[in-house]
Amino acid sequence: MRSERHEGQKNRALDGSLAGHDSPGAQFPLLDLEQTQAVNERNTMNTITKTLAGKVALVTGGSRGIGAAIAKRLARDGANVALTYASAQPKADEVVRAIQAAGGKALAVCADAGDAAAVQAAVAQTVQTFGRLDILVNNAGIAIIKPVDAFSLDEFDRSVAVNIKGLFVATQAAVRHMGEGGRVIHIGSVNADRMPFAGGSVYAMTKAAVAGLTRGLARDLGPRGITVNNVQPGPVDTDLNPATGPFAESLKALMALPRYAHGDEIAGMVAYLASPEAGFVTGACLTIDGGFAA
Ligand SMILES: NC(=O)c1ccc[n+]([C@@H]2O[C@H](COP(=O)([O-])OP(=O)(O)OC[C@H]3O[C@@H](n4cnc5c(N)ncnc54)[C@H](OP(=O)(O)O)[C@@H]3O)[C@@H](O)[C@H]2O)c1
Repeated sequence: MRSERHEGQKNRALDGSLAGHDSPGAQFPLLDLEQTQAVNERNTMNTITKTLAGKVALVTGGSRGIGAAIAKRLARDGANVALTYASAQPKADEVVRAIQAAGGKALAVCADAGDAAAVQAAVAQTVQTFGRLDILVNNAGIAIIKPVDAFSLDEFDRSVAVNIKGLFVATQAAVRHMGEGGRVIHIGSVNADRMPFAGGSVYAMTKAAVAGLTRGLARDLGPRGITVNNVQPGPVDTDLNPATGPFAESLKALMALPRYAHGDEIAGMVAYLASPEAGFVTGACLTIDGGFAA
């Protein structure tokens, strides 16, 4: 990260001289401040943020919320990105269009994380379209919050199918295509470690399972040079858990930083784990929760 900043400073200096001020003999046209900033931004995009150039990523549940932020961020860092969704095709198409408008390549695939065949097909379609798969982000998840007496067994099975089995199936299918440098990144939850309100038992259980899977999968895949990590967010402002929702004030009261995160903040941690810089990080649960669990 330090070297990225250094490169950025170099670029800014270069563009400053291209602007040609104080240099009557300059061979470059004079640029006004706005033009210079545009050149700087373009150079920044081209030279600094392409840590994932040539890579292909699959983000499950990438049509909205945290997954959409991750898909856009990985594309900005140079990856071609496939994203799955369960039902909201217009939202998925919006994310694809945003990535394409910024010069990237993206693909949306309808694949319910609770349907193993659909998940396997999404992995296959990603590889067929982009020719390879380097990064899997298991983000798709649901949160059914109900006290134990009200929780139906169908709801229990659905929670397990989407939050645990879907993640396992996607990982199993994806790593068949990955080599040295491959990345599997789960989006768990700080609720794996701390569940400070009633009704969250099954959700917390599924996210604790994700943490366990992370450690075991890291052991399985380490010898192949593939890392497996688990990002555990605290409250993030999404449709699932809106910052204006009924739980918001009580959640904020538990935090060292009493605010919700933005999806981009979670995406930043995922981008780090996906990058070559994170090659020695595996089997880790990285909590990003504003001090929720502190
Ligand atoms: N928000 C938080 O405070 C928070 C905190 C900790 C952890 N997390 C975790 O972060 C992940 C994303 O949460 P979020 O807040 O961004 O949720 P969200 O706003 O509800 O978005 C969920 C995304 O996942 C997709 N999805 C849902 N069920 C799916 C399924 N069965 N198969 C495939 N895709 C499915 C949705 O697709 P459609 O658009 O088609 O419905 C959507 O793109 C989840 O694993 C969640 O547990 C969230």
